[in-house]
Amino acid sequence: MKEFDVVVIGAGPAGYVAAIRAAQLGMQVACIESESYADPKGQVRLGGTCLNVGCIPSKALLQSSELYAQANHAFVMHGIGLDGIRMDVPTMLRRKDNIVTQLTNGIRSLFKKNKVTQLSGHGRFVGREGDRWIVEVHGKEGDELVAATHVVVATGSSARHLDGVPVDNRIVCDNIGALNFESVPQKLGIIGAGVIGLELGSVWKRLGAEVTILEAVPDFLAAADQAVAKEAWKVFTAGQGLNIQLGVKINSVVPSDSGVRIEYENVDASLVLEVDRLIVSVGRLANTAGLGADAVGLQLDDRGRVDVDEYCRTNLENVWAVGDVVRGPMLAHKGMEEGVMVAELIAGQAGHVNMDTIPWVIYTHPEIAWVGKTEQQLKNAGTEYKVGQIPFAANGRALGQGDTTGFVKLLACAQTDRILGMHVFGNNASELIAEAVVAMEFGASSEDIARICHAHPTLSEAVHEAALAIDKRALHF
Ligand code: FAD
Ligand code: NAI
Repeated sequence: MKEFDVVVIGAGPAGYVAAIRAAQLGMQVACIESESYADPKGQVRLGGTCLNVGCIPSKALLQSSELYAQANHAFVMHGIGLDGIRMDVPTMLRRKDNIVTQLTNGIRSLFKKNKVTQLSGHGRFVGREGDRWIVEVHGKEGDELVAATHVVVATGSSARHLDGVPVDNRIVCDNIGALNFESVPQKLGIIGAGVIGLELGSVWKRLGAEVTILEAVPDFLAAADQAVAKEAWKVFTAGQGLNIQLGVKINSVVPSDSGVRIEYENVDASLVLEVDRLIVSVGRLANTAGLGADAVGLQLDDRGRVDVDEYCRTNLENVWAVGDVVRGPMLAHKGMEEGVMVAELIAGQAGHVNMDTIPWVIYTHPEIAWVGKTEQQLKNAGTEYKVGQIPFAANGRALGQGDTTGFVKLLACAQTDRILGMHVFGNNASELIAEAVVAMEFGASSEDIARICHAHPTLSEAVHEAALAIDKRALHF
């Protein structure tokens, strides 16, 4: 039986990062990855949901479709005339697939470079011998047992499906099928106006589909700051033509060979939607089935996730769990941070993850990004705060780029001026948010940002001005 210091189960962002960091720290490491994703040669693809069917392919499609939308609608204001613009969907998909191949092969190279042993197959706890955990790797080539002092569970998550809505990833799709439409559907239905619904809805809308999103909750983007949610609602619905219906109840979904019929209701009426394709994006569930949790007494929480403390320790000695399979936001960067933390803790170093400064980004156009508290959270907590909000319409770079939708909103403590949150709706929000994350990690005040020189002309000047606006001394608005 092969023996390792650390065995990581799952090679998504949380798992592969944990494995690489543990190897960097001098440990003998193996990473088990099931055969869920394979390249055309049948080789197991590393990188998990993020690289194969999540962050990376969706951002590739968002970029292609945004360029197409700009060519159709935005180039003209710059004096650029184009005739006969057309979208070649197979080329767009090939580009996306090439990026996935490049990055997943990259993880394989990183494993080689760091001497991480890759084991292909389904990993499952089978027991304990002395101070070693025994894990079975059930692969195409047969079964193998490995022993490890430490096990890191990083098995990630899978799309939640709805009862009575069979997903075939052809007509009715979760994220896997939705990233692979070989042509633009004329009519696309989406259940769930969350992150995937908005991102993938945007992709196919920009390419010409008529998109209807059915959302159970009556509030739009309830987790975001309400000023952002309100503005985004206007832009996505009236501006971009996404038909988003809130507060609906899905009654039945009946697929046929050619499409799907969805019967649903809102407070006023019973309604029917007929579409060519349907995406179901109603959240994700932790992958703990078949992990052998029962065999070793690994404790799960009431949502089927591995139960962990703030250091990602489980109830079992030297068993850790990171990423989507544990509590907290299901975000790749959150999982990666946990992976690093656990590897460093195993090596006897200090490690921590600050859950209060994990940024969120929704890659619509304009993008939505935030970190820290929303205004409504501060109100509910009775925290006194100050607000500085600057529209991109008052920013020279945004004007030059012809993209002035949205704003930066900064929230600071009324007593101490410490930054409590930043919310951005606008072009490049995903990059701008990093400044607030750094500031909050350093415990900065809005005055600190106000006194930092920001390059001109840049979008980051809107962050600067928002900091000045907290003290009612914005210079350009
Ligand atoms: P995963 O990436 O799910 O990886 C887990 C791995 O473990 C998988 O490869 C799986 O095959 C393997 N596995 C499971 N069980 C076993 C087993 N028993 N044995 C062996 N292997 C096993 N997050 C962002 O931060 N930014 C984004 O832009 C973003 N976009 C997304 C877009 C979409 C469409 C989706 C679906 C998700 C997106 N996410 C995004 C979320 C992000 O993909 C996840 O948070 C991230 O992948 C979680 O990483 P993980 O390592 O915990 O799990
Ligand atoms: P989500 O949690 O973002 O949104 C799901 C939506 O579906 C919610 O608004 C919910 O109210 C709604 N819903 C649930 N049940 C429903 C029902 N029966 N009928 C109608 N609506 C229903 O989940 P989503 O979009 O599936 O994404 C999963 C996760 O993946 C995200 O929460 C996020 O963690 C991650 N992700 C992150 C991205 C990013 O960082 N940019 C991009 C895409 C996904």
